[in-house]
Amino acid sequence: MAQDRSASERMDKIVSLCKRRGFIFQSSEIYGGLNGFWDYGPLGTELKRNLKDFWWRRMVRERDDVVGMDGSILMNRQVWVASGHEETFSDPMVDCRVCKSRLRADQLQEKDGRKQCTICGSFDLTEPRAFNLMFKTYVGATEDDSAVTYLRPETAQAIFVQFKNILDISRKKLPFGIAQLGKAFRNEINPRNFTFRSREFEQMELEYFCRPEQGAELLEYWLNERLKFYSDIGIMSNLLHVHKIPPEERAHYSKGTYDIEFEFPFGIQELEGVAYRTDYDLTQHQKATGKSLEYFDEESKLRFIPHVVEPSAGVDRTMLALICAAFDEEQVTDEKGKTETRTLLRFHPRVAPIKCGVFPLLKNNERLVRQASEIVDLLRPHMMVFYDESGAIGRRYRRQDEAGTPFGVTVDFDTIGENEPSKEGTVTIRERDSMKQQRIGVGEIKSFLMENIN
Ligand code: GAP
Repeated sequence: MAQDRSASERMDKIVSLCKRRGFIFQSSEIYGGLNGFWDYGPLGTELKRNLKDFWWRRMVRERDDVVGMDGSILMNRQVWVASGHEETFSDPMVDCRVCKSRLRADQLQEKDGRKQCTICGSFDLTEPRAFNLMFKTYVGATEDDSAVTYLRPETAQAIFVQFKNILDISRKKLPFGIAQLGKAFRNEINPRNFTFRSREFEQMELEYFCRPEQGAELLEYWLNERLKFYSDIGIMSNLLHVHKIPPEERAHYSKGTYDIEFEFPFGIQELEGVAYRTDYDLTQHQKATGKSLEYFDEESKLRFIPHVVEPSAGVDRTMLALICAAFDEEQVTDEKGKTETRTLLRFHPRVAPIKCGVFPLLKNNERLVRQASEIVDLLRPHMMVFYDESGAIGRRYRRQDEAGTPFGVTVDFDTIGENEPSKEGTVTIRERDSMKQQRIGVGEIKSFLMENIN
């Protein structure tokens, strides 16, 4: 119980820090918000960009066997018919006749063997009905059935639908992958746990096509690659869990699925699915369109529909995991013996929104300010830096600790040769986690930082 309370207090602190420091705001907040929708502020946007860029670098740019694409959000409705989403992409839902809430049938609590409304406690509930999670919309001027389509609930289908075009132009041989990153929309019945379950979110998906006999091995390969990725963005392995989905819980076409889960303060929850989807999707689209989606194997002269292994991750969930993993509070004592709580985000420098704070010791000393501005100009083309001249230097460090900035450069009187002549042209560089400071030459700052943030 006490553990529950401290986990929920931790989550409250994280949510409040996200708002206070401009990571995440409620969408349309001044109008009372819109449930399940979020906006990213300046720091959140940088964090998101760094995460997506690193995913793209690892999954596309650093590999010979993966190419990228960027599909449209709205597609021909028949895509969603063939993929099975129109028929089956639904959650079972009940209505409470007393408080009129709409609830997921699989998340109801039970009392004395009867299902109970989680909001008002009533037992007066309707029978479960399937509720399709896709947002419906109309294309063009007429709002009739022929104009219906849906906001995509996953990015994957655009990859399957463009498989043949990309195979033809890239002339890739199996196994090879197509990666895509972009928005997806699901009309979730119960959006909850901050951004964890949202109605608009982004996915990072790879469809890795292969021969049928390679599927099982590639499933293990991609699980390990994806675990390495999380470690490379600073998510400690002790916070990750791999859940092997038992056959009876897997999609009927899947020959193996792993969920990579993270220990959020509100429980262990899915971050990413790695699924061996066989040839299901391409077969469905081939059947529906009559267009061949087969691969011609030059060696064996055989044609067949490739199988696919799909690592599918959520941008927003990974961001929330990054923030939860990085959040820390510690007691520190200053030079005057005063103890205070230091709040910090221990982001890996690779994903940190701001890489370096630059501080002139005093704002009313022209030489200090000029030297600090020159350092900012030197670093800006290469990374996100933040110049701050206001307030005591300790306060400025604390502000950057809370933003997760891994390094701080301070220009002091030594730097400008007004104190210790041997230290002229050097600055102090402070490391966020240890708070240790070292002196390095102005000319070394860029390479020092570049080595650490890459
Ligand atoms: N193409 C496969 C697919 O979409 P999924 O397990 O439904 O599989 C993949 O979604 C990932 O997308 C999830 O692991 C999660 O990170 C993210 N995701 C799914 N629904 C989400 C939601 N409502 N809010 C935020 N992220 C979501």
